[in-house]
Amino acid sequence: MAEFFAPGIKQNTTMSKPATGPLSAQDRAWVEDIYGRILIKMKAEAGRIGSMIPYTTNKVGRYEDVESQEWGLGFWTNGFWPGMLWQMYEATADESYRKAALGVEERLNALLDSPEKVDHDVGFLFLPTSVANYRKTGDPEGRRRGLLAASLLFSRYNLDGHFIRAWPDSMAEMAQTMGNGDVRGWMIIDCLMNIPLLYWASEETNDPRFAKVAVSHAKTAQQYIVRPDGSCNHIVAFDPDTGEYLTNPRGQGYQQGSSWSRGQSWAVYGFALSYRHTRDESFLNTAKQCAHYCIANLAANDWLPLVDYRQPAQPLKYDSTAAAITAAGLLEIADHVAEMEKPLYIKAALRILQACEKKFCNWDPEADSIVGGGTFFYHDPDGTNTEVPIIYGDYYFIEAVLRLKGKSLFIW
Ligand code: GLY
Repeated sequence: MAEFFAPGIKQNTTMSKPATGPLSAQDRAWVEDIYGRILIKMKAEAGRIGSMIPYTTNKVGRYEDVESQEWGLGFWTNGFWPGMLWQMYEATADESYRKAALGVEERLNALLDSPEKVDHDVGFLFLPTSVANYRKTGDPEGRRRGLLAASLLFSRYNLDGHFIRAWPDSMAEMAQTMGNGDVRGWMIIDCLMNIPLLYWASEETNDPRFAKVAVSHAKTAQQYIVRPDGSCNHIVAFDPDTGEYLTNPRGQGYQQGSSWSRGQSWAVYGFALSYRHTRDESFLNTAKQCAHYCIANLAANDWLPLVDYRQPAQPLKYDSTAAAITAAGLLEIADHVAEMEKPLYIKAALRILQACEKKFCNWDPEADSIVGGGTFFYHDPDGTNTEVPIIYGDYYFIEAVLRLKGKSLFIW
């Protein structure tokens, strides 16, 4: 472990400058137009939704609160609506966004007294809420909640396998549909987006332990998740007792060895973030490798992401959330590469956002949600989770557009 260093890199709260340098006047005008639409839509939505926690829309196109639905308070997506509110607060300084975001954070606080209700996704829950609040306003409650959440994440580290365990035991049955195995030994690509909570905790406490666990997990992901061609596995199964590598179960994509597009997007963004927090060049190179694979596949599909880049030609299924996350991740990479490399990542991000906007966005202020076309997993028996509005599609779409404007709050 001696090669892992404690980053201690203090992050700015606002992304420094607009990422539009390499764009044409027409593309810049597109960004301005979409930014204007986001302002109108979010003002209307926030007025209706406030501190409610939305996930997807119901049969009549309305959000309902997750606590009145099957997903509940601990569901992994519950930080995205407040994350959108913090992004809008950063962009507009409108106090109503901050107050509504705080209302959600206060609700999520209950999870910290019930650790059995959360899993590895505490980063998705507490980075866009408590940590965003603390970074932006200095609220000590945000810091307290963020550090408690980081401790929960830290406690999921498997010492022998060098990974943070993914799902809880209660997911065991569902896990059987994604590939037989013992969930106690599973790590997943998505978790790269949770470990910035650990980097933040080390930065905040000046204690390297949290960051060392994060780096160790990211190194294991590099070794067992990323394939030599830049495509990714979703899951790695280890023996939970010995840490011995067993297999790569199928996960949420089409089949074992295929390429689940949202998993790819988590890899692009997640490895770029591990670079941001550690300056370990290998993480940036892995992020670029995964990004190049995504760009090649997206360019071959009119810049629209299939649910799985290796799915059969029919049925044609898209996942807009993979598009939005990939775009935000490409802009993260653009922040770290030399000037001459930036245009590739910024232009690709813009093409993805434009294609996604044209096909999936609804700008009617009276309608809940912006980006339709989100798909939770490929094998969806009744289609209820296929090409529907999903809150994180909206979050990452907004984050990416605000990054292009130089108005995005640094969340991850
Ligand atoms: N993190 C779960 C998913 O991306 O579906």
